[in-house]
Amino acid sequence: VSNLGLNVITPADYAAVLAARPLNSNKGMYGHALIVAGSFGKSGAAAMAGMACLRAGAGLATVATPKSVLTSVASYAPELMTESLAETADGTICEAAIWAIQELAKKMTVLAIGPGLTQNAETIQVVRELVRASEKPMVIDADGLNALVDQTEVLKDAKAATIITPHPGEMSRLCGISTKEVQADRVGIAKNFAASRYTIVVLKGDKTVIAAPSGETWINCTGNPGMATGGTGDVLTGILTGLLAQHPQDPLLCAIAAVHLHGMAGDLGRDRVGEISLIATDLIHALSGAFERAK
Ligand code: APR
Ligand code: MG
Repeated sequence: VSNLGLNVITPADYAAVLAARPLNSNKGMYGHALIVAGSFGKSGAAAMAGMACLRAGAGLATVATPKSVLTSVASYAPELMTESLAETADGTICEAAIWAIQELAKKMTVLAIGPGLTQNAETIQVVRELVRASEKPMVIDADGLNALVDQTEVLKDAKAATIITPHPGEMSRLCGISTKEVQADRVGIAKNFAASRYTIVVLKGDKTVIAAPSGETWINCTGNPGMATGGTGDVLTGILTGLLAQHPQDPLLCAIAAVHLHGMAGDLGRDRVGEISLIATDLIHALSGAFERAK
């Protein structure tokens, strides 16, 4: 912990998510996550977020995805549950899907939205409506965030905790400034956005920054340049959602833990396959090792 009010994450900071489970555990104690994700050509983002969510310990994970990509997502792993969503002709979530998602969400512990979506106008409307109306803790990523550009005020009115996971480009669009400006003051910009929108900000990249609405900030030192490869962000969303399913009352703890464990999984994966060959599914496979290392 530094004296600059910027905390450096260590496993001791998230010991609660590493605790052994009681012998009489049942899956109902570990939450049910709903992940709204995927579109034609991006089924992998939905599948990886779902698998990472399960490997992070969620009791159940359901991926809600457009009808035409459901089979691809479902066949990725038998443990994943899937729900089919109404889609446009080009295979992205259409407006008619809103009601079905909201009905599903009622039974869930937490919601994630974003991996592998598109910026189709109908999908954007669905994201906005879900964020506006959600009563569950929510992780928002990727095109889930791009849908909120010029609408970030809706985050203030959310009825439960929200966690956003922008990369610097997504953060620049949310803030209406250049990526260069974001990168020049990562802590200040994350902190300001968190305080002004009452949301937890996970500003990704080398030394991911986490900022809470309270002004508390954290910096992560795990991870490596091998993680600059498609899909690692989707894996982070899954890990975070899986932890949040188990600890819905403690979203900041979940964000801190997810970012640190994700980077550690990246480091373990790099040790196995090398920085250049590292791919996103290596992180999912290394996640159990990261939990072990953090203990
Ligand atoms: N050091 C440490 N960690 C890194 C590094 C690095 N040099 N580079 C990347 N990472 C980590 C980030 O911190 C983040 O957790 O890898 C992850 C990358 O996430 P994204 O930038 O969201 O990338 P990706 O998963 O490929 O996104 C898929 O979604 O956000 C959209 O535009 C994005 O189309 C892309 C898609
Ligand atoms: Mg991403």
